[in-house]
Amino acid sequence: MPFQKLKPQIKAILKTGESSVELRLLKICELLKENISYYNWVGFYFKNGDKEELKLSSYAGEPTDHTIIPFGKGICGQVAVSNKNFVVADVKAQDNYIACSINVKAEIVVPLFIDGENVGQIDIDSNTPDPFTQDDERFLEWVNEQVAEVLTAP
Ligand code: SME
Repeated sequence: MPFQKLKPQIKAILKTGESSVELRLLKICELLKENISYYNWVGFYFKNGDKEELKLSSYAGEPTDHTIIPFGKGICGQVAVSNKNFVVADVKAQDNYIACSINVKAEIVVPLFIDGENVGQIDIDSNTPDPFTQDDERFLEWVNEQVAEVLTAP
């Protein structure tokens, strides 16, 4: 598990003041997708202004039609209202799920907080069944904390 190895790389990407926040988030998505074998789609969604919906920001992987997701809809929309990590071992077993690709078997969504407010999330799709552990949750929470710092003081 290369999580510890990836942490300094993520910090270095986020520190790069010359590039926009979107570009830095894109680089993080690409880094995670390329280095963690079971991360097949990695993206950040953020609350869309004052609307009760999420808007897709940077991502790595196949383009998705689901660039806007209403709060409450799908795994992402549920995390927008629950404020809790959502680990889906088998997407077929979920009723409230928005399919992006027939290859996806599992999904993890971890909310991103600024000053205690749920402003967005990191979303990972996996083509491997049931691949996510608590280590993924702790790692992605850490990633979101780093991103939150940059969003607060870009
Ligand atoms: N599967 C998500 C939709 C976003 S895609 O995975 C990129 C959901 O159910 O909310």
